[in-house]
Amino acid sequence: MKNLVVLVSGSGSNLQAILDACEQGKINGRVSAVISNRPGVRGLIRAVQAGADAITIDHKLYASRAEFDAELSRRIDQYQPDFLVLAGFMRILTDEFVNRYVGKMVNIHPSLLPKYTGLQTHQRAIDAGDTFAGATVHYVTPELDGGPLIMQIQVAIAANDDALALSKRVLAAEHALYPQVIQWLCEGRLTLAEGIAHLDQKPLHLPVQM
Ligand code: GAR
Repeated sequence: MKNLVVLVSGSGSNLQAILDACEQGKINGRVSAVISNRPGVRGLIRAVQAGADAITIDHKLYASRAEFDAELSRRIDQYQPDFLVLAGFMRILTDEFVNRYVGKMVNIHPSLLPKYTGLQTHQRAIDAGDTFAGATVHYVTPELDGGPLIMQIQVAIAANDDALALSKRVLAAEHALYPQVIQWLCEGRLTLAEGIAHLDQKPLHLPVQM
């Protein structure tokens, strides 16, 4: 069984989907710790309820990104995780931190990458007149939201959609997407080689569509 550490900054609904999938045996893994850069968030409560360690490392208490990331990696490494899962973790990480976990760290982003890196992804998709929004899971590399793509799920944009309504439907889709990718990781089916995600040793030149 693989050992997972999950990083959150807020509600942790993706964390909950992962915890539930572990509990149900759909992921051959266990979340040993959840770390939040914000105190008091719901993701920490979800961790406690599931029996995982809940750790707060308040980024406001650190003078620099480098100092925060050094403490973050120190705490992560105490758990010796097989994989590091970013689930609504809203801090930009230093290259040094990211490089330490390349191939072991994944993120979920609420857009069909490479479209709409960064914030306000749903509003930007609506403003552009897109007919589909969605979410992407990717390996994390130093380029923000730019790491090798693994899997995507599409969500149709309705004519009268606003960003809030759309974000709720995308989030529900994320809850199906992320556990699937983490299960592949835990089964050893997903690997990173030469800058491309591989599923069952086959390069994913395009992300798998869910
Ligand atoms: C999710 O929509 C996730 O894709 C997004 O934050 C939300 C977290 O929700 N992540 C990012 O925007 C990362 N750049 P959750 O806390 O309920 O899982």
